[in-house]
Amino acid sequence: MSRYTDLEFERIISPVLEIEEFNQLKFITHHGITRYDHSVRVAYLSYKICKALHLDYKEVTIAALLHDFFLDEVEHENNAQKLRLHPEYAVKNASKYFDLTERQIDIISTHMFPVTFAPPKYIESWIVDFADDIAAFYEKGYCMHRELRTSMFLFMFLVVNFVKMR
Ligand SMILES: [Fe+2]
Ligand SMILES: [Fe+2]
Repeated sequence: MSRYTDLEFERIISPVLEIEEFNQLKFITHHGITRYDHSVRVAYLSYKICKALHLDYKEVTIAALLHDFFLDEVEHENNAQKLRLHPEYAVKNASKYFDLTERQIDIISTHMFPVTFAPPKYIESWIVDFADDIAAFYEKGYCMHRELRTSMFLFMFLVVNFVKMR
């Protein structure tokens, strides 16, 4: 189960959430949260946008959920290589479990555009690329907010103790 309370969304994503390998994304940090939560967020945003635009939101939601389905394939690569290559790994992993359509392959493999050079071919791919950026922006902001709160708490703790000692 995800934290989203949309039953149709839950139904669409459940075949992916049942995959054991996909559940390993719960143990990988991504933008300060887990890659699993990030993927579900991107899928939910894409689902909402595509549904509102009367596009094939089921096909897009599955591809969006699988857009960052990579585990330790990138361990030996530097950050720039990771950014460029992980969509390929995600397509390979997703293909082990699903008969991906050409559009789904395009959605996953171009979600890092313009970091990856080939631009998306479909409007749905642009939407997932955009949803991924929005999610990352929100998650990084949330993470910074949490760090700021921790720093403020530590600062207050030190001040209170300093005042007590005097
Ligand atoms: Fe990605
Ligand atoms: Fe992503």
